[in-house]
Amino acid sequence: MATNFLLLSKFSVLGVLLALATTHPTSCSCHYTSIFSFGDSLIDTGNLLRLQHNNASFECWFPYGITYFHHPTGRCSDGRLIIDFIAEYLGLPFVPPYLSRGSGGQDFRHGVNFAVGGATALDYNFNEHGGTHDSRINNSLAIQLRWFKELLPSLCDSDSKCRDLFSRSLFIVGEIGGNDYSLALNRGRSLEEIKSLVPRVINNISSAIQMFIQENGAVTLLVPGHLPYGCFPVFLTDFKSPNEEDYESETGCLRWLNQLSEFNNHLLQEEIHRLRHLHPHVTIIYADLYNAVKAIFRSPDKFGFRKGALLLTCCGGEGPYNYNKSVHCGVRGAKVCQDPSQYGSWDGTHMTEAVYRVIATGLMEGPYAIPPFNLSHLLPLLQNAAHVSY
Ligand SMILES: *[C@@H]1O[C@H](CO)[C@@H](O)[C@H](O)[C@H]1NC(C)=O
Ligand SMILES: *[C@@H]1O[C@H](CO)[C@@H](O)[C@H](O)[C@H]1NC(C)=O
Ligand SMILES: *[C@@H]1O[C@H](CO)[C@@H](O)[C@H](O)[C@H]1NC(C)=O
Ligand SMILES: *[C@@H]1O[C@H](CO)[C@@H](O)[C@H](O)[C@H]1NC(C)=O
Ligand SMILES: *[C@@H]1O[C@H](CO)[C@@H](O)[C@H](O)[C@H]1NC(C)=O
Repeated sequence: MATNFLLLSKFSVLGVLLALATTHPTSCSCHYTSIFSFGDSLIDTGNLLRLQHNNASFECWFPYGITYFHHPTGRCSDGRLIIDFIAEYLGLPFVPPYLSRGSGGQDFRHGVNFAVGGATALDYNFNEHGGTHDSRINNSLAIQLRWFKELLPSLCDSDSKCRDLFSRSLFIVGEIGGNDYSLALNRGRSLEEIKSLVPRVINNISSAIQMFIQENGAVTLLVPGHLPYGCFPVFLTDFKSPNEEDYESETGCLRWLNQLSEFNNHLLQEEIHRLRHLHPHVTIIYADLYNAVKAIFRSPDKFGFRKGALLLTCCGGEGPYNYNKSVHCGVRGAKVCQDPSQYGSWDGTHMTEAVYRVIATGLMEGPYAIPPFNLSHLLPLLQNAAHVSY
């Protein structure tokens, strides 16, 4: 708890200092002025909500948002997501969802979030053909890239202005692909069949990254890996096993599903490695979400979590892991835990704000950003911050 409080205080002090710093005109382009992001519900700040015909049919409606915003915002958690903490850390406003354009003249000066809950890395038709398509979800990485291209003329009106804008931008590409795998899992596909999707998923992520570099002049990209799927209450419930050896003794998570995450992350890192060689002037940072979460499992109390609650859903129905498909978080009869900050999972699929905060800290301050963010221009600010009493 103490650690958490300290980190949180540091966040806000830094946020204030950075906000002050960014108001001064400066010729140095050493800090980011915008964030452009692509992915799924892990970083969607409100696009899926705006794609629904009415708010009440949105899966992440009340009581989502109770911890920080105190009302649903379209984020599938009780509070802020990793991208919100990154924005705070960089002294930038929360990244507005692309589909909020037109509603009250949304300001995209500091970036745009194109991520959509449920989005897949592979195309809609591909997934449909493969029999894993879910008709409620009609968004993919390719559609998000199209949105980005359509919006481009309103962001910058000449090639040199665009290059200048994107050289000062952080591109967050992912997490995406998790839905391709979970749709296949829900259809009863075998692990081998699902693994055969992985290279295609990585290939699509790779082409998006190369497009940002070659066509838009991106110079800093953050590419998140996948979370440990074997630790998600939804899968722990669906794939419950009587065999003790199916579970990791250290975490209680399902071994084979964590191995799927590891396989995805391994191929993703190999591809990033290849891209770094092709584009040596560009910084491609791998965000190791998998190990950031595993670290919490190793020492829950260090991060303020209750040991027994990491595999439990905070918001949901009766069942092992507090997860019940027929009493999903948000439907009548679902219960919300007293203190979400002690829990690992918010609704069985998405993690709590508390977990996202720890992950974001592990990215911005190390060691889970590979290579680390270059925060050298922040060091004087950090040293000043040390004189502020927490
Ligand atoms: C980090 O940024 C500073 C200031 O822009 C620069 O001088 C330094 O070379 C950078 N370090 C690395 C490792 O890129
Ligand atoms: C739906 O939710 C959004 C975001 O919270 C809000 O701006 C909008 O007014 C809501 N619409 C209705 C019809 O309640
Ligand atoms: C899915 O989205 C595409 C592109 O936006 C659109 O052309 C298509 O009609 C949509 N399909 C469904 C079933 O909603
Ligand atoms: C992603 O993969 C699908 C199917 O493999 C392909 O049709 C599509 O063009 C790819 N999209 C991107 C953005 O790479
Ligand atoms: C899930 O919820 C339903 C409806 O409340 C209940 O009948 C069922 O027993 C619950 N399942 C488990 C595994 O507790």
